[in-house]
Amino acid sequence: MKGYSRITGTGSCLPPHRVSNEALAAQLARDGVETSDAWIVERTGIRARHFAAAEVVSSDLALVAARAALEAADCDAASIDLIIVATSTPDMIFPSTACIVQNKLGVHGCAAFDVQAVCSGFVYALTVADSMIRTGAASKALVIGSEVFSRILDFKDRTTCVLFGDGAGAVVLEASDRPGILATELRADGRHANILCTPGTVAAGKVLGHPWLRMDGPAVFKLAVTVLEDAARSVLAKADRTEADIDWLIPHQANIRIMQSTARKLKLAPERLIVTVDEHGNTSAASIPLALDESVRSGKVKPGDTVLLEGVGGGFTWGAVLLDF
Ligand code: UT7
Repeated sequence: MKGYSRITGTGSCLPPHRVSNEALAAQLARDGVETSDAWIVERTGIRARHFAAAEVVSSDLALVAARAALEAADCDAASIDLIIVATSTPDMIFPSTACIVQNKLGVHGCAAFDVQAVCSGFVYALTVADSMIRTGAASKALVIGSEVFSRILDFKDRTTCVLFGDGAGAVVLEASDRPGILATELRADGRHANILCTPGTVAAGKVLGHPWLRMDGPAVFKLAVTVLEDAARSVLAKADRTEADIDWLIPHQANIRIMQSTARKLKLAPERLIVTVDEHGNTSAASIPLALDESVRSGKVKPGDTVLLEGVGGGFTWGAVLLDF
């Protein structure tokens, strides 16, 4: 049995419909909701987001990202023995989006399930896949983050609807004799469940409760800057590495101010921080694999680089994965 897992391919999918801040502000103004490009850029760093067409669901975006990751890894879908999809906007209550993706890929029989950890979902999913590979329960996994957050946004609530977008990212994670993934850390604190939630549910044929995303932004902001530093230091200590070993920081892309604060605390030069929030907005579980894929394809992240992935979000959940790419 090989003792490690490593990423052998990345892929992503952004829906083609790009909505700039100006276009969104003009659309919201028609409903009496006031915002501006200046406010959104200054407070978040977001300039645009992508929204999926009405008929497109999470598994559609996930499929495109998965196929790209498989191609990059030079890997046949039939050889995959584990599919994990991190999503908070699944196609349906059940079956899992992972099972739907498996079927769309035309492969059958391998383990497939979803992970629900909101914006930390990809870090959770990657950690689960790494653990399964290291114990021999799987040897080649597709790990995907895919979201259509536009479906759960209340476009009358300017404090949330300007922040999020749709997209998907995927990696192929394979058993390996050398790392790969060096250390992982997953954390949660359910006491903070109500600062970021979509509390509605379906029962007796009806939507019960509030079906739109709600967030106490300043409360999430304060927690995020603390826990991201803690998680980073934890994985560095576990891997016996230091801040100076980090080539690239790829945090969850929610707010440029949170990301820059984390980079500063880790004494990283600004150019070591991968930023896609400006063009993607916050794509929840998809944000990290989307940013990873873009930085691999643009030539920034190269084989052998040490990369720190960090997620934080609803639950409250957070976590980190330190890896050699
Ligand atoms: O993905 C999971 C992780 N999520 C996050 O990490 C998000 C964390 N939170 C944040 O990124 C920030 O808290 C926000 C971007 C959500 C908000 O930024 P902020 O600097 O914390 O602003 P605020 O909520 O304190 O609001 C400041 C002002 C308020 O007006 P008053 O009360 O000062 O008059 C808001 O009503 O900005 C107003 N405001 C807006 N104005 C124009 C809130 N949203 C908007 C808007 N356009 N879209």
